[in-house]
Amino acid sequence: MNRLDVIQALMQQKNRKNYLEIGVENGHIFFRIKSTFKIAVDPKFIFDATRRFGKAIINPYNLNNQYFEKTSDDFFAQDAQRVFSGKKLQLALVDGMHTYHFALRDVENTLAYMEDDGIIILHDCNPQSAGAAGRFEDWEVGEWNGDVWRTIIHLRSQRPDLNVFVLDCDQGLGIITKKKPESVLNFTPAQIEALTYDGLVQNRESWLNLKPADYFYEYFGLKRV
Ligand SMILES: C[S@@+](CC[C@H](N)C(=O)[O-])C[C@H]1O[C@@H](n2cnc3c(N)ncnc32)[C@H](O)[C@@H]1O
Repeated sequence: MNRLDVIQALMQQKNRKNYLEIGVENGHIFFRIKSTFKIAVDPKFIFDATRRFGKAIINPYNLNNQYFEKTSDDFFAQDAQRVFSGKKLQLALVDGMHTYHFALRDVENTLAYMEDDGIIILHDCNPQSAGAAGRFEDWEVGEWNGDVWRTIIHLRSQRPDLNVFVLDCDQGLGIITKKKPESVLNFTPAQIEALTYDGLVQNRESWLNLKPADYFYEYFGLKRV
């Protein structure tokens, strides 16, 4: 199971259509989504008008896409109020700058424009090596998920209005809903900053509220396809 399977199942079976993707890159996921309300935000799209046109032929929903080539912080400061004034979000993939505070701002800003039964998917929450799990400034080579795992710990510690868990698939898919949490943590932001990868390895299940991928179907009451 990957983020595309999760998004498509929620759209098809739970009718969550109004979609935001933060961090779109070449549109590998974004262009496949079937929705008339799709918002793309990335400071540097890796596609041009020709690819956009081609993707609209393959999937005509892409004709309605709204593109914002800017950082998510600028998007929320400059455009979000207007873009979401008539239509609230129902589903978002947060996959932009993969660091604790960037991802946290993206989640909190997204929540402000999201319906009460909306769903946020936060990518890259379950890194498998110290190098992949570090801060951007410490990253040297190889796979990098960043420290979005700290964002998960922060939300589970500081937001008693959200239920947060991580599916153990596709580098860790964080699932955030506006529901009473099934369990919480008690870390302060300063303590979260000081957490280490070794600590994550020893406490992965409890810190991330890590669930097997199949839990996705159970949690949302979906048919397996
Ligand atoms: C891992 S890629 C996204 C992949 C895409 N969501 C997918 O599933 O195929 C991360 C993207 O985040 C973008 N990004 C980096 N900083 C950002 C920011 N401050 N705001 C929004 N996007 C950002 C990068 O330009 C890059 O294209």
